[in-house]
Amino acid sequence: MRVGVLTGGGDCPGLNAVIRAVVRKGTQEYEYDFVGFRDGWRGPLEGDTVPLDIPAVRGILPRGGTILGSSRTNPFKQEDGVRRIRENLAKNEVDALVAIGGEDTLGVAARLSGEHGIPCVGVPKTIDNDLSATDYTFGFDTAVGVATEAIDRLHTTAESHMRVLVVEVMGRHAGWIALHSGLAGGANVILIPEQRFDIEQVCDWVESRFKVRYAPIVVVAEGAMPKDGPMVLKDDTTDSFGHVRLSGVGEWLAKEIERRTGKEARTTVLGHTQRGGTPSAFDRWLATRFGLHAIDAVRDGDFGKMVALRGTDIVRVPIAEATAKLKTVDPKLYSEAGVFFG
Ligand code: F6P
Repeated sequence: MRVGVLTGGGDCPGLNAVIRAVVRKGTQEYEYDFVGFRDGWRGPLEGDTVPLDIPAVRGILPRGGTILGSSRTNPFKQEDGVRRIRENLAKNEVDALVAIGGEDTLGVAARLSGEHGIPCVGVPKTIDNDLSATDYTFGFDTAVGVATEAIDRLHTTAESHMRVLVVEVMGRHAGWIALHSGLAGGANVILIPEQRFDIEQVCDWVESRFKVRYAPIVVVAEGAMPKDGPMVLKDDTTDSFGHVRLSGVGEWLAKEIERRTGKEARTTVLGHTQRGGTPSAFDRWLATRFGLHAIDAVRDGDFGKMVALRGTDIVRVPIAEATAKLKTVDPKLYSEAGVFFG
């Protein structure tokens, strides 16, 4: 049995831990061979491979990024995409694929498995934690840690200058990073994509924070939107899955807060620092267990499935179930944080 492995979409701390676990268990316990495909779906589409064996995965557990590279290539947007993938899998004698990715990468795996009979097992990753069917995705804990540390640091500089500090975090459709880091870091305002915000209310919270002689920290997810307007974007370029590049709402908020309250405001955009670098212990643990269970699914011939965390158990669910609907922040959960606003 020869198994192909690929990592697609935005990178995420813990990808290498999955690759290592898949290769270690597959080689040691099932005597499988492996081949790595470079840059997500671009690899099988163009037949771009990299050798993958136990020596190749030594030392990668704590390393961020992915040794296989990543891209947002969508084979269904390429001419003859499925046929080309099929041919390249045959050429490399690949019997099954382990696809590690988020909504888009797994969406492709679900279609290849379900509609085209190409045997795929999925492993969920995204720092945004917005995939259904799993309690957590790896990468999220690391991102929350990075954002929380940034908020801690911004508190002291905000207070020294008595100014507002707006922290823009990632979160395209879901405010998980904003909510968790905002709560952990003691933010005074948390704004998430799931709930449109009222800029007047934000300014009231800012003013009330200054009244108690503390400087406000506003945490905003990049996908958060004002109540009476469109999403604030720097530009409107899209990737091959049609997603616009986000970021801009933090700068916009600081300007609006300054204009409306007369208080000085600055913005810090955390951007890709949330995705880079070494994974947290939790993410290494989760990614490793996902990898071990993914190769078990291959051994069982359980294709079209994705591994998922339920409590402390790793289970298998249809990939389509995980990609059908995003896991967003429940309004009740968000309202819990409200006691700390202002
Ligand atoms: O999909 C995860 C994510 O982290 C989003 O929150 C963010 O909008 C996106 O990746 C940015 O990715 P890139 O800069 O690689 O396009």
